[in-house]
Order: sequence, then C-alpha cells, then structure tokens
Amino acid sequence: MQSSAARIPWQVIEGNHEEEVVEGKLGFLAYEKRFHTPSTFSESNTNLYYSYEVAGLHVIMLGCYADYSRKSQQYAWLEKDLAKVDRSRTPWLIVGMHAPWYNSNVAHQGEMEGMRNTMESLLFEYGVDAVFAGHVHAYERSLRVYKGQLNELGPVYINIGDGGNREGLSNEYIKPSPRWSAFREPSYGMGVLNVMNTTHAVWQWHRNQDGIMVIGDEIDIIRAGQSQIPVAEIMPSCKGYFLGAFRRIYMFLQRLVQPPAPHKFA
Ligand SMILES: [Fe+2]
Repeated sequence: MQSSAARIPWQVIEGNHEEEVVEGKLGFLAYEKRFHTPSTFSESNTNLYYSYEVAGLHVIMLGCYADYSRKSQQYAWLEKDLAKVDRSRTPWLIVGMHAPWYNSNVAHQGEMEGMRNTMESLLFEYGVDAVFAGHVHAYERSLRVYKGQLNELGPVYINIGDGGNREGLSNEYIKPSPRWSAFREPSYGMGVLNVMNTTHAVWQWHRNQDGIMVIGDEIDIIRAGQSQIPVAEIMPSCKGYFLGAFRRIYMFLQRLVQPPAPHKFA
C-alpha cells in the first residue's frame, strides 16, 4: 500500500482482519499504533471511530468492531459529532464503515443488524447522504432506504468491498433481490465519488477488467430534499443514461487535451 498511500491521502477504518490477539488480549493494537487518523480533531479518543472534514464533506468513520450499543462511548461520540455538523459549511454528510448494514449477498448476511438497529435512526435524523462499506467481496448499491423500506430521505448505501483479496469474490446473492437493492455484481473493481456542488454528486463504479472509459454503474446523488424528482426514480432513467454518456465523452476529451501527469515512484 506504500506506493498508493505516498501520493493519495488515505483514511482508514478497522475491519475484522485487523483484530488480533496480543499477549492474550483481543484487540486492535497494531491498527491503533500504525495508522494515524484525525481522531483528536473529532474529539474521539480512538482510531476505531472518528470523523474528518474535506471540502464540503463531513465524513464519519464508524467502528463495527467497537462497542456500538446505546450506552457505549461510540454512540455518545456519534451523537455529539452529528450535532456539531454545520451543513452550510459541509453540506455533504457521508459515513464509512467496514461491514455493510444493507447487504443482499449471502456472505456476511445480517451480520451488522445489531449496529443498524442501534444507529440507523440517528443517521436518518441527521440526513446522512451516503454510507460506504466493504467486507463483502462484491459490489452493491442501494436506493435510498431506511429501516428496510424505500425512503426518499434515507441514505444511499454502497458496498465497495470488491477491491481484491485472497479469499475470492462473494458470488451468491439472496433471491429475489430486495426492493432496496438497485445494483449488485460480484466483480473486482473500484469507485469514485465526484462531489460537483452543494447538492449534486456523481458516483461511478468501474470493473477492473474494463477500460477506464467503461463505467459499470453510475448514479447522480442529489441531496435529499434538494430535487423535485424522487431520487429513487432517477437511477435507471434515460436521462441518466444520456447525461452519463455526455459526461464520459467530456471526460475523454478532457484527458486528451490535458492528460493526467504521470506519477513517479521512489
Ligand atoms: Fe472484512
């Protein structure tokens, strides 16, 4: 990871693979010591959950493997952190965590129901725009959802656990697909969230085997309450398809005119 971390800012959050037994104690000692996070900035006393701000985004990293009960320090910290978000300064409110709350893959099915039941209403109350997770080795995107039902004010959930691993892909899905699941595919890939302005962002997912110009999945994320068009209905529309095509042509021409500078590795 050094070559990537040397040129791209990383923000990490613990997963199940970072948990280890050191001197008979189960914990995240290596993770806590090796990674630096803005935990102090966000008044968290641990790297297991923290938040940071960049451009117009307030990003909350939640700990799936720290106590998340209503009486926990993490819950109290989350309430406090959400309450101090200034949406006029950081209109986008994004959450990241290791294991997904919404997952229709057979792998890790229902694992985070306890955490979802405890914290989902809090994220909903504060109008979280999107939640990103990994853990399941496949790609899945939801419609806006809250408590299992489509809800225009709920977040979009994106499982981007398809970065590659030694265990292979998670190929088996629950059938039929739940209503909230908009796109699911067991392929290796990566995604980019382009925040365009205070209300509009574009999420694009790429499969590894495709060329850079090929987008496997793409949506416009319009902040809840900022559009007359129900967000849940925008996704597969013709309008979205043509806008996406124009955007790809524009990005292609932009790359021709001004190719990205090559990166030098030490
Ligand atoms: Fe995991």
